Amino acid sequence: MRIVLLGAPGSGKGTQAKLICDYFKIPHISTGDIFRAEIKKMTPLGLEAKKYIQRGNLVPDDLTISIVKESLNKSENSDGFLLDGFPRNIYQAKKLNLLLTEDKKYIDKVYLIDVTQDVILERIGGRRYCSRCGASYHIRFNPSKLDDRCEACGEVLIHRSDDKEDIVLDRLTVYNKAIQPIVNYYKKLGILEKIHGDANPSEIFSSIRSSLMVV
Ligand code: AP5
Ligand code: MG
Repeated sequence: MRIVLLGAPGSGKGTQAKLICDYFKIPHISTGDIFRAEIKKMTPLGLEAKKYIQRGNLVPDDLTISIVKESLNKSENSDGFLLDGFPRNIYQAKKLNLLLTEDKKYIDKVYLIDVTQDVILERIGGRRYCSRCGASYHIRFNPSKLDDRCEACGEVLIHRSDDKEDIVLDRLTVYNKAIQPIVNYYKKLGILEKIHGDANPSEIFSSIRSSLMVV
């Protein structure tokens, strides 16, 4: 099963990705998570990506596509995967299609998680993130049982550095500019489904799971 999750910053892609990947036992490929891991390790890729991420811009396509290509070539991803945060523009969408069809593979389903800007700002404003293991919490909707520490690894939770309100507004502008051509592209291929994202995570997951059962 090959799935793409589209949605604005803070719409809940990472939250749904975890539920879907645990349930269907497929690997989760998040370009944002890969960049954050590289930034933490201070690799040349991480240092380059950081320049763009901290301004709320997209990392250049050549860098992003090369990390996705590398991920798709890993044996654990050969039978299926969920892409979270990729593609983010029409060029990336077409490139993904090309990479897969070269290998006689295709995307089964694309979900667009649809939420309003007010919901996004509330979700991002309250998000807390574990920089050691990548787990994500929300002070109101999904608080850690250990207060300001990660339940999984005990690390102190932080606010993601690109979650400051001015950067979030820039991320939203970038998203709103790029999303429509991607939506049109996947609509034409007949694989796009819009998901109402203003519900609790298990309700959203339930509708995605039902839709995937018939793929
Ligand atoms: P990335 O990490 O992908 O960030 P994003 O797309 O902006 O999305 P977020 O991770 O902020 O939100 P999410 O949708 O995963 O929501 P979450 O589930 O955490 O990318 C970061 C940066 O990397 C980009 O800005 C760009 O610079 C670069 N980048 C990445 N991919 C790239 C690409 N392809 N090309 C170029 N550059 C790229 O939920 C948010 C909060 O809400 C959490 O606290 C959660 O607990 C809570 N929540 C979730 N669902 C619900 C719900 N249903 N009800 C209540 N609360 C909820
Ligand atoms: Mg995410």
